[in-house]
Amino acid sequence: MQQAYYKPATPYHIFSIGAGGIVKDAHLPAYQLAGYAVKGIYDIDNRKAQALAKSFDIQDVYESLDAIIATANKNTIFDIALPASAIIEVLQKIPTGAAVLLQKPMGSTLAEAKEIVALVESKKFIAAVNFQLRYAPCIIAAKNIMDTQNFGTITDIEVAVNVHTPWSLWTFLQSAPRLEILYHSIHYIDLIRNVLGNPLSVYAKTIKHPAQPALASVKSNIIMDYGNAVGVSIKTNHCHDYGNTHQDAFIKIEGTNGAIKINLGLLKNYPVGEADRFEYIIKELGTQASWKQMDIEGSWFPHAFIGSMAEIMKTLDGVIITPDNNVQDVLATMACVEAAYQSSAQGGVSIQDLL
Ligand SMILES: NC(=O)c1ccc[n+]([C@@H]2O[C@H](COP(=O)([O-])OP(=O)(O)OC[C@H]3O[C@@H](n4cnc5c(N)ncnc54)[C@H](O)[C@@H]3O)[C@@H](O)[C@H]2O)c1
Repeated sequence: MQQAYYKPATPYHIFSIGAGGIVKDAHLPAYQLAGYAVKGIYDIDNRKAQALAKSFDIQDVYESLDAIIATANKNTIFDIALPASAIIEVLQKIPTGAAVLLQKPMGSTLAEAKEIVALVESKKFIAAVNFQLRYAPCIIAAKNIMDTQNFGTITDIEVAVNVHTPWSLWTFLQSAPRLEILYHSIHYIDLIRNVLGNPLSVYAKTIKHPAQPALASVKSNIIMDYGNAVGVSIKTNHCHDYGNTHQDAFIKIEGTNGAIKINLGLLKNYPVGEADRFEYIIKELGTQASWKQMDIEGSWFPHAFIGSMAEIMKTLDGVIITPDNNVQDVLATMACVEAAYQSSAQGGVSIQDLL
C-alpha cells in the first residue's frame, strides 16, 4: 500500500530549532521524502546544526535563537525538536501568529503542557505536536481497513513491546525524572486516544530495572479504561537484553468481525531495526477467514513525521481548520500520562488490607 503525501499549495519554509538525533534520523529524511523545504537550522550546539545543514543541504545555519526567529516570514514553519524542558522558553520568543510544530512530549509534566496550551492560545500560534504514530503508514492502512471493510466495532487494543532500548543514546534522559511513559508509551497512549477517544481513567505500574539504577522507570504496564466492552493494554519491557530472538513489538487491534496485527520491526534490535509486518483478517460469511499480509510502503520512522508537518501545512492552506494533533487535543494525551504516573504512585488494591 502506497501513501500520497500532502503537497502544500504554498512552498512553506521549515526552520528547525534543534539539530539532535530525531531531527537527523526522522524530521529531515521525512521532509526530503515529501519534498518539504528546510531553509534554516539552529541548535545551541552549532556543530550539530552545521553537520545537518551539510548532510541535508540546508541553506542557513543560525548562531542564535533570535537570529533564526528574525528571518521568519509568513511562510515560515518553526519545527521545534528540543528536550521537553526547553520548549516553553523557546516558545516565548516565537512571534505572535507563527506556525509551530513541537516535538513530543508537550512539556515534561501536565502543568507544563497546560502552560504551553495557554501560550499557544495567547500568542495565536497555529500549533501542533509531533505525536506522529497517528500518521504512520501502518496506522493509516489499519484505519483504512477499519473504515472500509467489515471490521465491526473495536473490542480490544493491545500494545506489547519486549525489546532492548539503549536509553544511553539520549543524554537528556539520563537525568529525566520521568522516562518510559513520558517519552515512549506516550506514543501508544496518543494513538489509542486518536482511535478510541479519551479513556474514562488510566491504571498503570511503571518500574525501574536493576541494570539501570540511575534512570527513572523504564518498563510499564498501562491499562486505559474504556468501560466494560473494550479492553486496552500497553505493556513495555525495554530491558530484554537477551539477543534478538525473542524481541517483539506489536500493536493488535481486534474488532467484532476482524483483527489487525502490526509488527513494529523498527523497535527491534534498536537502532538497526527489522522490517515491519502488517497482517489482518476479516471474517466473511460462508468462508474460512484467514490472515492476509499486506505490504506497506514506509515505516513509523521517518514516514510518519510527514503527517505531523502536513497537518500544519493543511491548516495554513485552509484545507482544515486546525491540525488534528493540535495542542488542545494532545493535552488529553498528557493528562493520560499524568494519570498513569499518579496511578503507579498510588498503587493497586492492597492484598494485606483484604486478608
Ligand atoms: N518519535 C518521536 O517523536 C521522538 C523520538 C525521539 C525523540 N523525540 C523527542 O525529540 C526531542 C529531542 O530528542 P532528540 O532525540 O533529538 O535528542 P538529542 O539529545 O539528540 O537532541 C536534542 C538537541 O537539542 C539541543 N538543544 C537543547 N536545548 C536547546 C535549546 N534551548 N535551544 C536549542 N537547542 C537546544 C541539543 O544541543 C541537542 O542537539 C525530545 O523531546 C524527544 O522526546 C521524539
